[in-house]
Amino acid sequence: MEKVNRPLRIALTKGRLEKDTVGLLEKIGYDCAAVRDKGRRLILPVGDTIEVVLAKAADVITYVENGVCDMGVVGKDTIMEMNGKFFEIADLGFGKCRFALAGKKGTDFYSGYNVKTIATKYPNVSRSFFEKKGMDVDIVKIEGSVELAPLLGLADAIVDIVETGTTLKENGLEVFEDISPISARLIVNMVSLKMRQQEIESLIKLIEENLN
Ligand code: PRP
Repeated sequence: MEKVNRPLRIALTKGRLEKDTVGLLEKIGYDCAAVRDKGRRLILPVGDTIEVVLAKAADVITYVENGVCDMGVVGKDTIMEMNGKFFEIADLGFGKCRFALAGKKGTDFYSGYNVKTIATKYPNVSRSFFEKKGMDVDIVKIEGSVELAPLLGLADAIVDIVETGTTLKENGLEVFEDISPISARLIVNMVSLKMRQQEIESLIKLIEENLN
């Protein structure tokens, strides 16, 4: 692993969580102009002591787990799916949505004895949800717009993120069952927390004091 005399590196999930994370860092007093005006750059300075790495959610976990980023901001959905080795330090309270089982409106999902097919971007979350029910299902991994699978007849239901419910509604689908709430979490690499304890703990304290 690289020596620690570099800025504290925070991996930040691109897209939905990005704006709220930048807002939080600014509220604490960090200058995020470079992130706001990033163009196509992927590693951006935030003040003199932090640099932000913009990555896809699953990669945030990979970088933090491997210690090339000290901290990360990522959704609980990705944490539940990937089960990595790191400390989950705080619920940041934004990026709120939920995991739900959903499918075509009016379907009685639990009726019948046939093995149901579930389409999802989250096979591990889905498997554990149905295992707890003692229900055998076939899981099909889909990369995006999972809602298409039941509409096209590939799946009986989906396990997916529901935020406003608009995507389901506009496609004639409905929630059958809520699975678990989701929000953005602050994660920390286990070695970094020891090696850069003071820096990281004071940042965590600032973050926690500035949560809404
Ligand atoms: C997520 C999720 C749903 C949608 C739910 O997809 O998979 O499709 O958001 O949001 P809503 O309840 O507010 O309508 P995302 O936009 O991340 O894109 P993807 O399907 O391509 O992954």
